[in-house]
Amino acid sequence: MFIETCIAPVNIALIKYWGKRDEELILPINDSLSVTLSTDEMCAKTTAAAASSFKRHIMWLNGEEVPFEQNPRAMRCLKEIQQLALAKEQLKFPIEWKLHIVSRNNFPTAAGLASSAAGYACLVYALAHLYGVQKEELTAIARQGSGSACRSLYGGFVRWHMGKSNDGTDSIALPVAPCEHWQDLHVLILVVNDARKKTSSTKGMQLAVETSDLIKYRAQYCVPQRTAAIVDAIKKHDFAKLAEITMRDSNQFHAIALDTYPPCVYMNDVSHAIVEFVHAFNKAVGEVKLAYTFDAGPNACLYLLERDVSIVLAAIKNSFPNDAEQSVEYVKGIPIACDIGENNGFNGNATLPINNKNLFKYIIHTRIGKGPQRLGKSESLLDSSNGLPL
Ligand code: DP6
Repeated sequence: MFIETCIAPVNIALIKYWGKRDEELILPINDSLSVTLSTDEMCAKTTAAAASSFKRHIMWLNGEEVPFEQNPRAMRCLKEIQQLALAKEQLKFPIEWKLHIVSRNNFPTAAGLASSAAGYACLVYALAHLYGVQKEELTAIARQGSGSACRSLYGGFVRWHMGKSNDGTDSIALPVAPCEHWQDLHVLILVVNDARKKTSSTKGMQLAVETSDLIKYRAQYCVPQRTAAIVDAIKKHDFAKLAEITMRDSNQFHAIALDTYPPCVYMNDVSHAIVEFVHAFNKAVGEVKLAYTFDAGPNACLYLLERDVSIVLAAIKNSFPNDAEQSVEYVKGIPIACDIGENNGFNGNATLPINNKNLFKYIIHTRIGKGPQRLGKSESLLDSSNGLPL
């Protein structure tokens, strides 16, 4: 039995990918740019194994068997990796051998936190190691699992270039800057209480391309300018600029969701209260220290610098009181250096809006991080004696 185990990170876009020009190859209508988050707090972990005794491809995701052979996106990723292996004439085992794949996220899939990006990036990375093609161009393969997954194959700041060709060979992700470039860039994910069923990203962007007028303007005029400006802000460590572009792009993406017919509503009242809070906070401190961005759901991803984490958490605590606040489980992830009850001399709380209690489930504190990693045998999720999940 041949076995490989890997982890891959979540990424959160500053410039959003929204809209495809090819549904099957997953080719986007605009470039996008993201921050890869540390795998210490959030990651997908995947073990892929091949053996002559396996009867069919089987995948278990978070403890449940899920369709693999019937999942065209997963099968396309596998076929592409196998083709690379065949082309390199470097097969470690017969190409016909079936696979058992076990994958787990260390964060709730249902929280709507970009789990498909980490999941497909991890699948492709683990398969590439299994078939011995890890040094090849993999982002164009991960892209075919889920578009945003291509950006999770690198750490730091990553740009997915939309490309021009019809076969997608130039639609690849490339690093803009490694995580060491801006090591003190931190992230707070505010997981809000919400149970509404939302339109999936895949469906939402398809409808937007079909019905929204604004989406064309954004792809053609706004994204190219914004992408160039944000790359410049990253190079110069200009947080205020990065923050403004990020917030404008999130707002524009949600405006397009509303311009879709029928409209897609991803943000809820709590999301809008967070937007109001961030602008009020920046005004109170007289500087842009905090940025929000929202994907296809109501949870907020806040970007900030490490030195501002405790003052921001104190302000959040003031504006969004929560009965779970005292529990160690409320703010998960990187521990806070000082008591978040202290406001570090910030006297602007009086000017911040006070919201109803218990609007958030919890908060995840994380930071910019590295790309996927290969793990040792002891980390396997699969029992090598019977080929089943551990
Ligand atoms: C709002 O990558 O999940 O998170 O390619 O159809 O699988 P598919 O869509 P997906 O869309 C992500 C959309 C987004 C923005 C982003 O991550 O850039």
